[in-house]
Amino acid sequence: MSLILGIESSCDETAAAVVRDGYEVISASVASQIAKHAVHGGVVPELAAREHLVALHPVVESALREARVTLRDIDAVAVTQGPGLIPALLVGLSFAKGLAMGNHLPLIGCNHFIAHIYGAFLDEAHGVLENPATYPLLALVVSGGHTSLMLIERDGKARQLGCTIDDAAGEALDKGAKLLGLGYPGGPIVQKTAEGGDPARFEFPRPLTGAAGKPLAPENRYNFSFSGIKTALLYHVKKHAGADGKLPPELLRDTVASYQEAVVDVLVRKTLAASRDFGAKTIVVAGGVACNSVLRERFEKLVPPGVNLRLAARKYCTDNAAMVGGLGWHFHHRRRWSPLDIDSYARLPQITQVPFLGE
Ligand code: KG4
Ligand code: ZN
Repeated sequence: MSLILGIESSCDETAAAVVRDGYEVISASVASQIAKHAVHGGVVPELAAREHLVALHPVVESALREARVTLRDIDAVAVTQGPGLIPALLVGLSFAKGLAMGNHLPLIGCNHFIAHIYGAFLDEAHGVLENPATYPLLALVVSGGHTSLMLIERDGKARQLGCTIDDAAGEALDKGAKLLGLGYPGGPIVQKTAEGGDPARFEFPRPLTGAAGKPLAPENRYNFSFSGIKTALLYHVKKHAGADGKLPPELLRDTVASYQEAVVDVLVRKTLAASRDFGAKTIVVAGGVACNSVLRERFEKLVPPGVNLRLAARKYCTDNAAMVGGLGWHFHHRRRWSPLDIDSYARLPQITQVPFLGE
């Protein structure tokens, strides 16, 4: 039995968790900085770093307390190494290094993107990842920083099929909400504002889908683009806004519903096309935007029989440390620890193999 302490600080959430043997989340503690960043309309990296510094110690203490363990019971420290905001990542990574060194524990640097995918398997999915029938597995990771499709084969070989060529889907929702003066973060506000609205009233573009009669270049079959939807929203607001520059409430609701619909439609369409092309047996949807109810319902409705849909539990969609502690265990039991001089990285490196399968 191994207990891994997971630490996450890649963006605006300071999180720690204790996870047993890769799947059983014993405790998970998250301190959100949303209120601090909301006044700026988005995440300010230096501010995030300062807040992580303040929050890390209490958050780790709280995760240990909630798990009724001390550092003496912990077998390894897993920490998000990247991708993310460097100043934010560095605080968590340095903290984890200090903990590991001071307590003679192994350190494990984890990839945040893979951790998001792994989040869909926490709690009750023991054995699913080891089962060959789970593969090929297609993962849609959709968050404020990523919109990517990754294909994972049963031997753990992985490749990114496509990603956004401009904004991430979460970014499109955040920027859309900002443009409409709805606040930050946009995703949850968009979902709330769109409730009861007519998603078919306004036609926002579906970039890189071949919709609107534009032929889709083969290299963009699995790529995404969301900046055009955002620009369309800008023109829509200019056209329909009242003298105060705002949309009237009834128009606002239908606008937001239609905007959300465009984002959801593109995500689902592209994922299902990739799933068909590669004969996926499992579709995983993870990352902050996977919290979205319309997106979840659409996948539930459209994923064909014979394909297993795994929507990450909402609490593991947005940034958390349970996904890091869980993923870290797969390194730990293979004794693949990280040296203490590892550095954080901002961008997603090319991934060819997932750590939870193979040697
Ligand atoms: O995974 P996450 O916490 O951080 C990143 O790694 O980026 O994702 C945050 C993103 C934000 O863009 C936020 O607006 C979006 O997830 N989000 C949502 C919802 N909840 C969070 N988007 C749509 N609907 C939601 N309910
Ligand atoms: Zn994330």
